[in-house]
Amino acid sequence: MEILQVKDLKLYYKTLYGMAKAVDGVSFTVRKGETLGIAGESGCGKTTLGLGLVLRKPPMVWCGGQAFIEDTDLMNLDEKSMRKLRYEKISIIPQYAMDALNPTKKIRQIIQDLLKEHKQRYEEKQELLTERLTLINLNKKILDMYPIELSGGMRQRLVMVISTLLNPKLLISDEITSALDVSTQKTVIQTLYQMKKKGFMDSLIFITHDLSLLYQIADRVMIMYAGKVAEIGEIQDIVDNPLHPYTRALIGSLPRIGVRYHETKLKGIHGYPPNLLKIGPACRFKERCPMAFNKCEENPPIFRVNAQEVACWLYEEGERV
Ligand SMILES: Nc1ncnc2c1ncn2[C@@H]1O[C@H](COP(=O)(O)OP(=O)(O)OP(=O)(O)O)[C@@H](O)[C@H]1O
Ligand SMILES: [Mg+2]
Repeated sequence: MEILQVKDLKLYYKTLYGMAKAVDGVSFTVRKGETLGIAGESGCGKTTLGLGLVLRKPPMVWCGGQAFIEDTDLMNLDEKSMRKLRYEKISIIPQYAMDALNPTKKIRQIIQDLLKEHKQRYEEKQELLTERLTLINLNKKILDMYPIELSGGMRQRLVMVISTLLNPKLLISDEITSALDVSTQKTVIQTLYQMKKKGFMDSLIFITHDLSLLYQIADRVMIMYAGKVAEIGEIQDIVDNPLHPYTRALIGSLPRIGVRYHETKLKGIHGYPPNLLKIGPACRFKERCPMAFNKCEENPPIFRVNAQEVACWLYEEGERV
């Protein structure tokens, strides 16, 4: 069963030079209980997609498509209904979460305000809150501090607690490990895993540019390229048998320990993603694709190949999704 169904979603940025098509016709689902990883290089639209589901603010504009969480279309809600849904049904740990807390309020006040907005009493949640703070290794004394008094790592963990305090159906975590060293990364991943296992959230969207991290935590992954879906599949299938030339290039460019740079055929992906203000009719990866052929002048639809979905003309014989 699906908890989230996104259909042909378009989220653009209004700029002085026109619309930047950051998320341009993206469709995918998140199943109940699963962890969906979203990966792709910087600027491909991961944050726009995650934020756009929870909190759209100018210059981001919804330009089409739908996103259903259970029976509610997130794109058709006024601010008041959205505020009610946030934290209860869908919640986000934003990229740069460490800076997401209001610096002028004590942590207790921040949490009290959140609970008040959701018509819940702080006194009734106090025990749960202390329990959860302990789980992530924070002393309840921090409740009397201002965000600035905590280290970046502590603030990051605190945002993990706040965003899951009301047990959302779906949690979106956006690059929560990118500013951390490798061993702290591991702790954060383990904590998130524990939180999910304990039922703090049902399903998880885990956004990262780091495919090796995704391998540790995701059930399925969606690879994005320049605002579009390149490929979706089970993590093991994607790693063992990447279909899209971009997914292949991403996996091929992962450095491996024990192999020195000059000995490997390690290839980056040459060139740059297209300018999102000037998107033409061709496949967006065409200019960088080693497999490009004449068909690629037209943007490909999505084809189903076994359990994978891939947006590439090489798989034209597959069933169109
Ligand atoms: N406020 C904005 N105004 C105009 N364009 C924007 C704005 N925010 C983001 N963009 C553009 O939208 C595109 C997608 O950005 P987004 O932040 O979603 O990418 P990302 O995949 O999350 O990248 P990263 O891995 O660096 O976090 C980029 O080309 C970016 O320049
Ligand atoms: Mg981002």
